[in-house]
Amino acid sequence: MNTIGIFFGTDTGTTRLMAKKMAKVLGDAASKPLNVNRINVDDMLQYDSLILGTPSYGIGDLPGVATGIKSGSWEEFIPQLQGIDLTGKRIALYGLGNQDKYPDRFADSLFKLYEKLSGLGAEIIGNWPTDGYEFEHSMSVIDDKFIGLIIDQNNQALLTEERIKNWLLQIAPALMDNITINSAYDLAGHN
Ligand SMILES: Cc1cc2nc3c(=O)[nH]c(=O)nc-3n(C[C@H](O)[C@H](O)[C@H](O)COP(=O)(O)O)c2cc1C
Repeated sequence: MNTIGIFFGTDTGTTRLMAKKMAKVLGDAASKPLNVNRINVDDMLQYDSLILGTPSYGIGDLPGVATGIKSGSWEEFIPQLQGIDLTGKRIALYGLGNQDKYPDRFADSLFKLYEKLSGLGAEIIGNWPTDGYEFEHSMSVIDDKFIGLIIDQNNQALLTEERIKNWLLQIAPALMDNITINSAYDLAGHN
């Protein structure tokens, strides 16, 4: 499909809200964001370009029933990709976490997603600097950069709009040819 697919997992809705903000900035270039607990594999595989988001729950786990998300999440979805070749798919990842409360495992769940998807051949794009975050350790840092956009709505909500816009500006050309980004979009006023 010639648009960008956006999919997320969530428990309390923050990761969904971020997906909606991204979809608004991307406009016609993006699909309607969907929770991975209500799609099947083909819904995702119809896109060559994807933005996938996850909150962090558990201790270095993918969020799902075992980490307390009763309706299921990435942990239940990922096994459906078993044996599927994701070569040719371009995937940008974003992760939610709380750096004050979990400084020793900040946004760790995103790494688990990265590990699974890159292991199946997907090209992961959209790494992000760690400047401006305060934490001790994150599995989601490789070569001094986050493997995707990290958002901390618990402690740095005021930085989120700008981070999302800048990240989308950075990744959009790799996700889609001739894309125009609505970077002037007032995300704060359009929740
Ligand atoms: C029980 C629990 C465990 C959490 N574990 C982590 C963690 O290990 N690392 C982290 O960075 N954030 C952790 N968080 C913070 C969440 O990832 C963060 O609040 C996120 O925004 C929630 O997203 P959601 O509303 O989409 O579920 C945890 C939060 C809760 C309630």
